[in-house]
Parts: sequence; C-alpha cells; structure tokens
Amino acid sequence: PQLPACISRIVLVGFMGAGKSTVGALLAQQLRWRFLDTDTVLETRVRATIAEIFAQQGEASFRQLESEVIRDLLSEHHLVLALGGGAVETAATREALLNSPETCIVFLEATLEIMISRCEQQPGAALRPVLNDRERLRSRFEDRLPHYRNAHLVIQTAQLTPDETSQQILAAV
Ligand code: S3P
Repeated sequence: PQLPACISRIVLVGFMGAGKSTVGALLAQQLRWRFLDTDTVLETRVRATIAEIFAQQGEASFRQLESEVIRDLLSEHHLVLALGGGAVETAATREALLNSPETCIVFLEATLEIMISRCEQQPGAALRPVLNDRERLRSRFEDRLPHYRNAHLVIQTAQLTPDETSQQILAAV
C-alpha cells in the first residue's frame, strides 16, 4: 500500500521480540506524540494480565478484546501504537488498520531466531503465553508474515539498534 500523504498515527507491527515497544517509545519521544501499547491498554481495561486472559478466557476471547482496543485507538491522533504480535491474525483488525486514513503501518522485521533470543533476554518470558507454545511458534510466525508484509514500511532491524530503527522510520515518513 502507498504511504498516506498525511500521517497522524504510526502503528508498529511484528512478531514478539521485534522491538515494537522499545522503538515505539523512542519514536513517540522524538515526535512528541503519545505512545501506547495495545497489550497494556487491554490489561488496564480488563483489569487482568494477558496471561490471565489467555488462561481464563482463551485466545479467541483475547483476540476479540484486542481487536476492540485497536479499533478504538485508531481514532486517536498523534499516536504511536505498538500492536501485540498476533493482532494481525484477526481479520477485523487487519481491515480496520488498512482502512484507517492517516495511519502509517510499519513492520519491524527480523528472523524468528533473533526475536526469540530477544524475548528470552527480557524478564517475564512467562508473561507471553504464545512464546511458551514453542511447537506452534514457527508456523504462527509464517502465517503472520504475509500480513506483516502488507505494511506501508518494512524495516530490517537485525543490524540496527532501536534508536537507528526509529531514525529510519522518521526518515521515511
Ligand atoms: C502475542 C504477542 C504479545 C501479546 C500476547 C500474544 C502473540 O504481544 O499480545 O501475549 O500472539 O504473538 P507482544 O508482541 O507485544 O509480545
């Protein structure tokens, strides 16, 4: 898709460990925009952690709540938004993203191995239910790739620091 002429939101997509939250916070700081992470907004709204929602209500329920949060946030301006890695699995979410005017979607790409190792270096790996389901991880990643690649911008992050990634995005939009 073509980059929107006027941008009032930047949405970061990519697998767990892609750096969406780190890069998103840096980008927002540089733009003097607000930064939000869909997982955090959802946890506050539901007053439960992602792991609790998965355990108590199941993944389908989580995806529905996630989609509602994302659709609501797409009405905000001057916002950098980091999406949960699996948000693109939901058709309604994909549709809302691609039909949202003034929204630039950026895919932070790296290999699955790099992203797993980044996740493992962070505290609280147990807080990511999808990460712990190792058998399905590669097939999930491969199923999501075509949706991630539908972004306006694709940034190869393997050799970049979060700061360099943020600079590349700013130079492109
Ligand atoms: C998920 C990724 C997580 C979170 C949830 C499910 C996934 O977000 O939404 O645990 O399905 O890949 P991050 O990508 O921010 O870790």
